[in-house]
Amino acid sequence: MSSTHRQSPSREGIGIAPVTLSRFLIEQQRLPGCPCPAELRLLIETVARACKAIGHAISKGALGDVLGGLGSENVQGEVQKKLDVIANDLLLDANEWGGHLAAMASEEMETIHRIPNRYPRGEYLLLFDPIDGSSNVDVDLSVGTIFSVLRAPEACAGRDVTEEDFLQAGRDQVAAGYAIYGPQTLLVLTIGTGVYEFTLDREVGSWRMTDGPMRIPAGTREFAINMARRRQWSPAISRYIEERIQGAEGPLGIDYNMRWTASMVADIHRILKRGGVFLYPADHRNPGKARLRLLYEANPMSFLIEQAGGAATDGADRIMDLPPVGLHQRVGVVIGDAGEVAAASNRRSAAAATSREIERSLSTPG
Ligand code: F6P
Ligand code: MN
Repeated sequence: MSSTHRQSPSREGIGIAPVTLSRFLIEQQRLPGCPCPAELRLLIETVARACKAIGHAISKGALGDVLGGLGSENVQGEVQKKLDVIANDLLLDANEWGGHLAAMASEEMETIHRIPNRYPRGEYLLLFDPIDGSSNVDVDLSVGTIFSVLRAPEACAGRDVTEEDFLQAGRDQVAAGYAIYGPQTLLVLTIGTGVYEFTLDREVGSWRMTDGPMRIPAGTREFAINMARRRQWSPAISRYIEERIQGAEGPLGIDYNMRWTASMVADIHRILKRGGVFLYPADHRNPGKARLRLLYEANPMSFLIEQAGGAATDGADRIMDLPPVGLHQRVGVVIGDAGEVAAASNRRSAAAATSREIERSLSTPG
């Protein structure tokens, strides 16, 4: 028998497994400036655990009696799905007792959920959209959970947290992320030090880093928009889309593709991985009427996209600078590849002239 040293068979051939979420967060905690203090780490790990449970419930589908509606409406007047409520409860239960939160707010709840007195109160505020794109659940398409973390203002020490304490600009977020329940279950996260993707290893039950720091690939000719809302678009958005539909025969001289999943999480995930832009503009004819929520959707997604080198506006201004005025406030969203966002945003004066030109060119035969 050879006397050469041999590696133990148990380590040989296994390779080094990708870093776990826990290890990533602990290493972030040790970085200069400590971007991830222990309480924030525990909070993120708790949200990730709840997302595992949500993913598990979703995957049972009809066998778990989790599909379909409840016959009730949420505060937005939208039909609630069973899974909207299950996921909301899972997030509340998981995060109530850990001592890292002062209060929570959810797209599915009319007002905030304070941490009950029987538990210690922490220094963070958690906001979430428990199931984003929930109309997709019943037809087995991707859905997600979006979350955002703020610091509770110092002024709320010694008194009850109020809704106003949540009304902070997106740039004040300390963490944001989403879980996506698709062919794989993923967690995509930022704590302001880049964007990292973790894949759920179902056999072991842990999240392992599979991408990051993520950068939005530039120059991808793909836009995501609900074309059926066309009559609501501003001249600037109409022009932006019209130019892209004209493709190689239009002023840009290049073809674009369109994608629409009806789940913001899935569209944003595709953009982080492959590039492109997502638009859900506010209704130009009816100021203030928009689809997506500033605090539960637009702000966390803007934080992620900016951290990956992209941009996000409401059609004119940076979303993360908008001062929130209400917990369930809605906002127009143009988000993704920075060049595409700039092209679709803030072109109001130029757009008026150009949309007239486009109308003329479309009505001119030949
Ligand atoms: O949560 C709102 C949402 O479901 C997003 O996830 C998605 O992008 C959008 O609404 C879909 O809108 P529509 O029903 O107009 O396609
Ligand atoms: Mn949503």
